[in-house]
Amino acid sequence: MTSLIRQPRFMALQELKQQEQAISLAQRFDEDPARFSRFCFAFGEHMRVDLSRQHWSSEVQALLCELARDMKLESAIAALFGDNLFNHTEGRAALHTALRMPEGASAILDGENVVPQVHAEQARLRAFCERVHTGEWRGFGDQPITDVVNIGIGGSDLGPAMVTEALAPYQGLALRAHFVSNMDGAQLGSVLADLDPTTTLFVISSKTFTTDETMTNARAARAWLLSACGCEAHIARHFVAVSTNTEAVTAFGIDEANMFRFWDWVGGRFSLWSAIGLPIALAVGFERFQQLLAGAHAMDEHLRTTPFEHNIPVQLALLSIWNINVLGLQSEGVFPYSQQLKRFPAFLQQLNMESNGKGVTNAGSPVDHASGPVVWGEVGTNGQHAFFQLLHQGSVVVPAEFIGFARSAYPYPEHQRKLLANMLAQAQAMAFGKSREQVEAELAVEGHSAEAIAHLAPYKVMPGNRPSTVILCDELTPYNLGALIAMYEHKTFVQGVLWNINSFDQWGVELGKKLAARLITDLSSDEVTTTHDGATNGLLAQIKAWR
Ligand code: F6P
Repeated sequence: MTSLIRQPRFMALQELKQQEQAISLAQRFDEDPARFSRFCFAFGEHMRVDLSRQHWSSEVQALLCELARDMKLESAIAALFGDNLFNHTEGRAALHTALRMPEGASAILDGENVVPQVHAEQARLRAFCERVHTGEWRGFGDQPITDVVNIGIGGSDLGPAMVTEALAPYQGLALRAHFVSNMDGAQLGSVLADLDPTTTLFVISSKTFTTDETMTNARAARAWLLSACGCEAHIARHFVAVSTNTEAVTAFGIDEANMFRFWDWVGGRFSLWSAIGLPIALAVGFERFQQLLAGAHAMDEHLRTTPFEHNIPVQLALLSIWNINVLGLQSEGVFPYSQQLKRFPAFLQQLNMESNGKGVTNAGSPVDHASGPVVWGEVGTNGQHAFFQLLHQGSVVVPAEFIGFARSAYPYPEHQRKLLANMLAQAQAMAFGKSREQVEAELAVEGHSAEAIAHLAPYKVMPGNRPSTVILCDELTPYNLGALIAMYEHKTFVQGVLWNINSFDQWGVELGKKLAARLITDLSSDEVTTTHDGATNGLLAQIKAWR
């Protein structure tokens, strides 16, 4: 496949760059009263994605769609729903879309429909949730479970943790969910400090069941439980596993009957839809989990069947190609105006940066253009009082994505009004800013002297003309959240297709794991270590002196 930047349509886009940059966002709206309706996309009744405050035009948009066709996006999308999407560097398929297909649907892998397996496992999850919720599943003190602790990291933590927090208003089941991921024992310690072992259930979530953080936390949790119950036989009532590795699960001491499966064709960062979503189902109920799957499936169908010109994940991805590869904007800020989505930026970081932070093409050659952006963010309005200064007046232009909800599940209408007003205001300020004339006029009204006005005005000018997107939903329901997450999954996938990289591997994380294993051994003794580079030897010596 010819590289993105050598595609004729990409070159045509580059030729448009100067012309497009010369038109301000304010001008675009002045000249085209229909701009909002042309660039605001609808996903069913519940979601609108407003791309009108981006530095692009219908001409750019049309070229980007043609570029996507040239780069065979249509067949790549078809492959995402069938037999053909091969994660060639890990030797496995990528078929997470099958996890949210309804019963009776078909996703063929190696000649076999995997959807029945998916639903069989869902039936096991549902039955297990029911046993926990009804109190039939009991701990060693014959008490019902009150607390669930998910132990996992990366995709085995971020998705379930983010969704569980996002759907907090749906948690009416008297079951508290906790998440432990970090190698820092402070996290496990602080979670366990508040728990009663007799009523605590641990879900050990790990696709490989070898990840050091997870296994270290799982062993410590096991020891904590054992010291309370005093008998190995009781472990079965307090530990279940979610994994693809039956052998390692049983070797850890978890009964196969208490293991929930998923498959190697589900990548970690795409796994919350599988049994990895067990903590979600335990916290909010299996029906809500199904609504989450239904929302994601609806977005899958939208991706699969909608022409590129109206296809939301495709538009988001193409816009990012325009911003990153043509305009040179290599950072994306994500700002949910929803405290419930506090963990959403962290989730998106893994989704996008682990998928597209790549420097080698599918053909094994170096990528000759920018690929995955730096994704970062924080909930609004908190970010406004921290780093939004840079968004408005800094020398780096960061395209922002604002996510908001018209209704809140919490009984504070004044808060919600002000929250939404702030979100809209930030997008407005970024796009349209405040001119020198406006600033001077304001300062004059405030009674400042001519000298003071001349001094202050330059600092108060807001350049504006900074791009942003607004994603607006009616409410943060399980269905809408499923659609929102799937939308970002597909944006990530489409970007990877255009960059011709494998979005489904993550070899870049391996070296650090191997080096850490060696350093763990070095830190196990007090002897002076001289086998590393000078800096590492020096720091090891300091740690040994201080600990
Ligand atoms: O180290 C990266 C990674 O492999 C992620 O891709 C994955 O989500 C995470 O570790 C956890 O892996 P596992 O579920 O196998 O413990």
